[in-house]
Amino acid sequence: MKKFLLLLGFLSAFPVSAEAQSQSEISAIVHGEGLAKLNCSTCHSIGLSGESPNKDAPAFRTFSSYRSITLIGWELMNKDWGEHRKMPQFQITADQVRDILEWIRWVQPVPHGRRLVQKNCSQCHAIDMNDDSAHPAAIPFRNISVFYPVEALEEAFAEGIMTGHPDMPEYEASPDQITAIIAYLNSIQENVRQ
Ligand code: HEC
Ligand code: HEC
Repeated sequence: MKKFLLLLGFLSAFPVSAEAQSQSEISAIVHGEGLAKLNCSTCHSIGLSGESPNKDAPAFRTFSSYRSITLIGWELMNKDWGEHRKMPQFQITADQVRDILEWIRWVQPVPHGRRLVQKNCSQCHAIDMNDDSAHPAAIPFRNISVFYPVEALEEAFAEGIMTGHPDMPEYEASPDQITAIIAYLNSIQENVRQ
């Protein structure tokens, strides 16, 4: 396994408008964030980081690890929380549900990680399934697992492990950003070990 360099520096955050596809998508996400702040943030952590004020309420960004986001929309719409009796009842319209879901999807690790690598790594690395790396020596991210487990990067990020990669800039990532990048990288691996 080759060693790699990922020093700690700050991965920049970005406004919704920097990444969303269309104006209507941007307004849906922003509206969804507003609704979530108003109706959900007294108990849940609704954003890309942070603890839930109510420790029994899972952070929104963890939902995709154990739930279907679409099903959450169905539950909100039908006020059907099954055994989740601590959830309050909401009077909510279909449009509001759609926008809250847009927000919930926005904060999930895979799309969050996609935005982070787009912003911080794509100047050199291929970050999707069919693109080429802009820097000829930079590995396409979909091939990382050919050389080592994607999880090895987590340690590299956390510990700032380095070797000589002159062209590679320094990064600092928060634990939530590291989780998001790893989740995204895992989602695109081709898994062709040869
Ligand atoms: C008064 C506190 C409170 C508010 C406000 C609240 N929740 Fe919750 N929510 C909880 C608690 C506590 C749980 C976990 C325990 C449970 O399910 O009852 C939970 C669980 C959930 C779950 C996960 C259910 C599961 O399967 O684990 C989802 C999804 C959810 N809430 C969405 C929302 C959304 C969306 C809003 C705002 C529209 C919201 N919650 C507002 C307290 C709250
Ligand atoms: C300015 C160009 C540039 C940027 C930006 C960049 N890299 Fe790299 N990266 C490289 C180059 C060049 C190499 C190959 C260096 C070598 O093997 O000597 C590399 C290698 C790597 C490797 C493999 C190291 C190994 O041991 O094979 C990983 C993993 C990696 N980069 C991750 C990232 C991540 C994650 C980001 C964004 C947070 C990023 N890179 C941003 C240029 C860049």
